[in-house]
Amino acid sequence: MAVFDAVDFDAHEGVHFFDNPKTGLKAIIAIHSTHLGPAAGGTRYWSYDSDVAAITDALRLSRGMSYKNAMAGLPMGGGKGVILKTRAPKDEAFLESFGRAIDSLGGRYVTAEDVGMSDADMVVINRATRHVSGLPVAGGQAGGNPGPSTAEGVFRGMRAAVRHKLGKGGFEGVHVAIQGLGSVGYALAGKLAAAGATLTVADIDEARAGRAAAEFGGRAVAVDAIMTVEADVLAPCALGATLDARTIPQLEVAIVAGAANNQLATPEDGPRLFERGILYAPDYVINAGGIINVVAEYLGDGDADAVLARIARIEDRLADIFVESDRTATSTDQVADRMARRLIGR
Ligand code: NAI
Repeated sequence: MAVFDAVDFDAHEGVHFFDNPKTGLKAIIAIHSTHLGPAAGGTRYWSYDSDVAAITDALRLSRGMSYKNAMAGLPMGGGKGVILKTRAPKDEAFLESFGRAIDSLGGRYVTAEDVGMSDADMVVINRATRHVSGLPVAGGQAGGNPGPSTAEGVFRGMRAAVRHKLGKGGFEGVHVAIQGLGSVGYALAGKLAAAGATLTVADIDEARAGRAAAEFGGRAVAVDAIMTVEADVLAPCALGATLDARTIPQLEVAIVAGAANNQLATPEDGPRLFERGILYAPDYVINAGGIINVVAEYLGDGDADAVLARIARIEDRLADIFVESDRTATSTDQVADRMARRLIGR
């Protein structure tokens, strides 16, 4: 693989490889930037088709974390851990050896949960390094499961989009289609329903979608129907890469604002939404509530109320991006990328 010329290589400060024959750990830690502080970003435990796919994921996700942390106003840089799922389950020796790998970087990288990792895994990793967040916490403290914090940020960010695009100050009578009712989507549905929104929901787990519809008074539809529902807002809260050349022309909404990471399949898809007049809330700006919570826990910087106040700023940050997008006739994702790169000194 060409490294320095690879499309996803963006002058990363360091890419570290760990291979521990004793525990079976094979892992990559990519540090994109420490310009604003230690590189923070979760660890993904995943079965990749090739080593190159794993490296690409680490490069791309760590840069994404630099942008996300900078735009969230956090004193943290961006990094990402990737553990190759060569066998299952993860045992304690395996996780502790990953903890030692993190520790060998001397605090330049701070981990948390991502796909395939739990808070119980973080507890084991924490035996070998203190550079871990997302540990279980007591009520009232910052930290713990980031899902509800992410939902709060998406709710606020969506409100900024509704105000900007529809000229409405709240959700009364606003129709939101939610794709995915997991830890974030379900909590978001509850907040929106309480604020007076009308909901249409879908999940591959149909029982879950039905439960949300019954609890919040909405309508459940099949997963392949949610992307074309006629509504005010589409909230992607399941997988990434759902917005592409095929789906964007079929959207029947004025706004896309949801939690999923990497919603745009390619860099062309942000401008594609812009040209259709659909207001897109850049994913890494609107979904930063979880990382804001987790970083407060790691730094011991404030309680749950302080975290909520920081999450609330997502609303103004998005409003600024929307105004700048109009002013410069540039898609919102490009406006956000530019702002983020300026913040990290690139
Ligand atoms: P989750 O795993 O709890 O929930 C995802 C839900 O989506 C599940 O209920 C699943 O059945 C459903 N789903 C999967 N494929 C689907 C499809 N094709 N159509 C409809 N539903 C589908 O995940 P979580 O934590 O709620 O996260 C949702 C998204 O937000 C993910 O993309 C995640 O990366 C992103 N995110 C989550 C954060 C968090 O704090 N949990 C923070 C930032 C981003």
